Amino acid sequence: MGKIYYKTDEEIELIRESSLLVGKTLAEVAKRIEPGVTTQELDQMAEEFIRDHKAIPGFKGLYGCPSTLLCSVNEAVVHGLPTKKPLVNGDIVSVDCGVLMNGFYGDVAYTFQVGEVKEEVKKLLRVTQECLQRAIDAAVAGNRLGDIGYAVQSHAEANGYGVVRELVGHGLGRELHEEPQVPNYGKRGSGPQLKEGMVIAIEPMINMGTKNVKQLDDGWTIVTTDGKPSAHFEHDVAIRKGKAEVLSTHELIEEVLRNKKG
Ligand code: CO
Repeated sequence: MGKIYYKTDEEIELIRESSLLVGKTLAEVAKRIEPGVTTQELDQMAEEFIRDHKAIPGFKGLYGCPSTLLCSVNEAVVHGLPTKKPLVNGDIVSVDCGVLMNGFYGDVAYTFQVGEVKEEVKKLLRVTQECLQRAIDAAVAGNRLGDIGYAVQSHAEANGYGVVRELVGHGLGRELHEEPQVPNYGKRGSGPQLKEGMVIAIEPMINMGTKNVKQLDDGWTIVTTDGKPSAHFEHDVAIRKGKAEVLSTHELIEEVLRNKKG
């Protein structure tokens, strides 16, 4: 395993600012999510918003990624490329976004409902958010990486869902993907110890059915092999004693969603 870069408080502040800008960008996306909008339109809007804030899209150009957002619809788990296909009522779309600002990355994901979504799909989204919260609760100094994975896996599987193995969370800082890898599965008390100053992106990817996934011919999109929907939520977190410090926010997104409901 590679080196883990522990961050100073000043560096953590910069990661918080980058993460906050991603949260604001996704709140703009939230305003535009409705049947008829295309993920390409969302992508273009997000890129302009990020550049207007003197930052650069974090994903675009990295590993050859062509876009600012990765938009994964329904059975797509992650890494979906924006398309000209309009979203339709009942879809879910996981939107993952990164920015690079002042030398540090932020990386946040949220799964949106398009119009009216089936009750069973709403439950998948709710449980995936609960998985993320449980993982954050476990992400304290002195615990181990396996405690985070266990928190996600145990809650997802108790609800009959599949936990993706092939894709994991990660350390975050001057690079988008740093050590350590942060799996969404694991055994309590196993793996490297969590220490103050570690900054990690925790991102459960939870499938309604099988845990198994495959990559589409576009070389990017990861989908469930059974075609059932998948959800993805991500926060950036600094490891502290007693309680994790969540650097990113979904609050701005959820404020928009509440206001849309009226
Ligand atoms: Co990430």
